[in-house]
Amino acid sequence: MKRIFGSLILFILLIAPAISQNAPQLGKDPLSKVIAAMTLEEKVSFVVGTGMRMPGPPPSTQKQNPPDGQQGPPPPAAQQGPVVGTTEVLVDGAAGTTFAIPRLGIPAMVVADGPAGLRISPTRKNDNATYYCTAFPVGSLLASTWDRDLVNSVGKAIGNEVLEYGVDVLLGPGMNIQRNPLCGRNFEYYSEDPFLTGNIAASMVNGVESQGVGTSIKHFAANNAETNRNSLNTIVSERALREIYLEGFRIAVSQSQPWTVMSSYNLINGTMASESPDLLTMILRNDWGFKGLVMSDWFGGRNPVAQMTAGNDLLMPGNPDQKKTLINAVKEGKLDVKLLDRNIEKILTIMLQSPRFKGYKYSNKPDLKAHAAVTRQSASEGMVLLKNADNTLPFAPAVKNIAVFGNISYDLISGGTGSGDVNEAYTVSLVEGLTNDGYKVNEDIKSLYTHYLDLTKAGRPKQRSFFMTPPQIAELILNQDLINGIVEQTDAAIITIGRNAGEGRDRSKEEGDFQLTEQEKQLIREVTIGYHAKGKKAVVVLNVGGVVETVSWKDIPDAILLAWQAGQEAGNSIADILSGKVNPSGKLAITFPAVYDNVPSSATFPGKELEKPTNQQAGGMVFGRSVPAEITYEDGIYVGYRYYETFNVKPSYEFGYGLSYSTFDYSNLRLSSAKFNGKLTVSVDIKNSGNKAGKEIVQLYLTAPKGKLDKPAEELKGFAKTKLLQPGEVQTLTFTIESHNLASFDPSVSSWIADAGNYDVKIGASSKNIKLTGTFNLAKALTVGKESVALVPKEKVNEIKPK
Ligand code: BGC
Repeated sequence: MKRIFGSLILFILLIAPAISQNAPQLGKDPLSKVIAAMTLEEKVSFVVGTGMRMPGPPPSTQKQNPPDGQQGPPPPAAQQGPVVGTTEVLVDGAAGTTFAIPRLGIPAMVVADGPAGLRISPTRKNDNATYYCTAFPVGSLLASTWDRDLVNSVGKAIGNEVLEYGVDVLLGPGMNIQRNPLCGRNFEYYSEDPFLTGNIAASMVNGVESQGVGTSIKHFAANNAETNRNSLNTIVSERALREIYLEGFRIAVSQSQPWTVMSSYNLINGTMASESPDLLTMILRNDWGFKGLVMSDWFGGRNPVAQMTAGNDLLMPGNPDQKKTLINAVKEGKLDVKLLDRNIEKILTIMLQSPRFKGYKYSNKPDLKAHAAVTRQSASEGMVLLKNADNTLPFAPAVKNIAVFGNISYDLISGGTGSGDVNEAYTVSLVEGLTNDGYKVNEDIKSLYTHYLDLTKAGRPKQRSFFMTPPQIAELILNQDLINGIVEQTDAAIITIGRNAGEGRDRSKEEGDFQLTEQEKQLIREVTIGYHAKGKKAVVVLNVGGVVETVSWKDIPDAILLAWQAGQEAGNSIADILSGKVNPSGKLAITFPAVYDNVPSSATFPGKELEKPTNQQAGGMVFGRSVPAEITYEDGIYVGYRYYETFNVKPSYEFGYGLSYSTFDYSNLRLSSAKFNGKLTVSVDIKNSGNKAGKEIVQLYLTAPKGKLDKPAEELKGFAKTKLLQPGEVQTLTFTIESHNLASFDPSVSSWIADAGNYDVKIGASSKNIKLTGTFNLAKALTVGKESVALVPKEKVNEIKPK
């Protein structure tokens, strides 16, 4: 016995290390050697994540696979419905991990959401420490800053939290086009315009990745609705794909080479995005030169073999069935192991850069105080002043006592729900924000609302799942005497209207969502009447992640501030604008249509169901069901302002619109040449002609000459924000126009073509408010780029065309 034991010790000491020393090691040996040393089981495990705990069922039924490769029991089948990732392995509350192979020196990478900040569990079992993250402003707000540097600085702060909490890849930014105002995830995305989207996303990626961690730009591609998101077949022309739905991703890849791309749930022209070689190999890699890895959205796709073949390198969060399928496919000769090797190499290449591979000792203590300052400042830069009659804002020095109306005033929404949510330590309320900025908030109306909210919330059933949007609480009907009494005690009123949304469900066009409710309108009306009767002002604050109807009520209040969902410092950021500490400088990255029916996709959004939902699909969770469905993008390239401007439909507030407490003069438009020769610069002088320091967002639109293809009335091809200009100060802004900016995608030759002729340069304060125009000429048509023939629809898509 002693001898056997002795030999065992000898084996452990001498032979075992020798074996592991002989095994190639990641980082020391060429990747090809490391991959060649993997068993088939290891290879397959490596391209499949280690599983996750499902939201919903009790944790006891939700064991996940340890990342060292020993399989645990399978997670519940979750091919459909909302599957917001959570894992307890390595970083509690992260969305997933990759499979570790210690004998080859391969660690597990941790990936976690999301677009408005890192989403991990704020507390852990048997641990007194907290792991709160900063809730930054949502995507819609960040895009409304039109400020690449600012978004980059937000990215740096988010990236630092990713790094310091031990996460390797952030699952964001979200960058789908806001095609229709009702998409439940619009708040996570940036804009209706791909140029703005791509530029803002690239700034975010560069900011996050400057910290030595990765990003995953998502959801690739054409994922513009949540209803039936796992089964929706998006039927869309090649031109609309290239110019609208892929263009932002193309820009982000070329300007920031993100570590990873997340493929989307939906189908595009009949093929699931994650199973599409056209999308993931031909377009993303061959046409654009993407070098990183592609991961699936959580449980996205149906056929792991097709996913591997298409170039979807990593299946997240991973489940044992996928592994079984892949092993059998290799054994049966249905999947060439070389394809697995190719995908593994992509994952390993990224892993080599990851903090976990480099052995970074994370602190679990990012500087949350410093990041709170970043979110407070960035939020105020993206708020949009929609209306400011008689310079109501900033509040005059005489305004000291303020009455705050509306439920949301006492319960600000910092961000949307689902995987785009962040577990922040606090949200600064409007009352706190106003108090911090030196105002006295009326206590009578405050206590009325706080009691009402406490009572209503206490009687509400418990949330079934954390990513369900909390039901809206009906507005109190206040009698006019009560309002009049409050008017006597105060100098001005604020009325806040709020909306929340999140993944798995689209918004509704009805009252209480896109439309304001009758009670909300009544509140705005009656409070304003009361204050006007005494010569005082009423201001509406919109605490929303996306668009709401404004035409029917916008004439009533004196001022309207679109505060968006502004992150955890929301109350401070709003107060900074209302008080004039910060001069608003945000402009709309999405059109506010006059009525929902004016939206070009309104008639068909969110698609038609091809089958009736079974009980199981409906499953009591309407928000998560997925039945075969399809949607045809008959609006083609005419999305957002491209539609409103070309088809002469008047919006309530146009793309690019936003007021300031100051005014700006535009002058001295200069083109470097009247002839286009591969590149052209455009300069313009912007002067602060008002009496308050402020910043102006300047937009460059191009109108292309008539050609074979129809063209939008104008398209955004440049934008810049001035520095803080003092009254009278002038800044010259310069834009560069490149060949690609002139071109439209012609599917008949699969190329970007710039037609010969005159191009109008329009320098605007918004898409409508064009201040200066110029012209240059392109002598001969240009073929700017040839692309793969890819994602061709099965039948011609009937699209709207201008007359
Ligand atoms: C969402 C993704 C998210 C993932 C992990 C999915 O439901 O669509 O955006 O990154 O869950 O939480």
